[in-house]
Amino acid sequence: MTSDIRRIPVALERQPYEVVIGGKGLQGLGEELLLAGLKPGIKVLIVSNADVAGPYGEICFKSLKANGFKPTLLVIEAGEDQKTPATVSLIHNAAYEAGLERGSLMLALGGGVVGDMTGFAAATWLRGIPIIQVPTTLLAMVDAAIGGKTGVNHPGGKNLVGAFHQPRLVLIDPETLKTLPRREFQAGMAEVIKYGVIGDFELFELLEKTSRLDQPQEMDNVLLETILERSAAAKAKVVRADEHEAGLRAILNYGHTFGHVVETLCGYGTWLHGEAVAIGMVAVGELAVQRQSWSREAANRQKALIKKAGLPTSWPTLNKDAVMRTLQGDKKVKDGKIRFVIPTSIGKVEIQNDISKSEIETCLSKLS
Ligand code: NAD
Ligand code: GLY
Repeated sequence: MTSDIRRIPVALERQPYEVVIGGKGLQGLGEELLLAGLKPGIKVLIVSNADVAGPYGEICFKSLKANGFKPTLLVIEAGEDQKTPATVSLIHNAAYEAGLERGSLMLALGGGVVGDMTGFAAATWLRGIPIIQVPTTLLAMVDAAIGGKTGVNHPGGKNLVGAFHQPRLVLIDPETLKTLPRREFQAGMAEVIKYGVIGDFELFELLEKTSRLDQPQEMDNVLLETILERSAAAKAKVVRADEHEAGLRAILNYGHTFGHVVETLCGYGTWLHGEAVAIGMVAVGELAVQRQSWSREAANRQKALIKKAGLPTSWPTLNKDAVMRTLQGDKKVKDGKIRFVIPTSIGKVEIQNDISKSEIETCLSKLS
């Protein structure tokens, strides 16, 4: 299917690139690579997993070939438990077999797991070759594929091993969302709502006016593309301002501090990441009301939107000491104080470092 093409610049000084949404979609992949300045004749290692390579691998392969590229397709296992250095080694082996040189490319076709691992493989093969991101989950389209964070998990924690490696192009074909399991789509919608709260009031209102947010089949294509465009633009803006997370980029972690607690204490796999973030946004929304940073009305609007997207809003039953221990062990602790991204109105947040243990305990006791 062809739709109007949308191009969102990620205007980084050293290596600007575009997030391209719609148009000919995957069928236009080869042409988009040429437009991004890549030359015909280049070898491309496409990395994907069975769920995605099945319906979409051949379309990408054909489009690359038709435009003079030399593609090879590697299908890997890509559950969160396979996001390891061992899988990255498999990608490196395939790069070796395919004879990938400095000027060759890797292309990640899949969700955030495939994108993060392939990005990391590209960052480390021959000390860095270009990576193209072709995300196929909502979460990867609006978040993981944009901004250059790549990596794998370590037994000590998620994403502890990694590198910043910006893509040369992010190509989003919204049609691929039609095969995504509904629960995964809903989890991605949590990150979309996040962009509304942290910086785009109009996006938030657009989501409020949309009758269904819980499955792509129920959404108008133009509306879905608009939501993708605004989310990608929100991420691009933050990444441009703070590529390596020296400060501002931390606002992308809105809802993630409490979300991380939920993921850790309920066990990874109980909640999808986006679901945990949804619970985390409701929780930090309550903390913000308690601190009089934003209004009860704003917190209620956020909660209603999260609910409409089919996402959980209730804080699970968790041991309070374990919650505090997890919060204090989180990467967001600076100088012994817990750092939270706190909303001050819908569309505005700030990073607050002065939140005391007792404030958090009071908030949690109201949530439970
Ligand atoms: P995922 O990659 O695990 O994909 C979810 C599931 O959907 C998988 O089973 C996959 O096979 C399937 N799938 C993907 N696209 C499909 C499609 N179009 N049709 C049918 N099935 C499809 O999950 P995710 O939510 O995309 O990514 C989560 C990962 O992203 C985590 O590892 C997280 O750490 C990472 N992440 C990275 C960043 C970043 O900035 N780099 C940001 C957020 C999350
Ligand atoms: N997903 C958070 C970031 O890219 O910084």
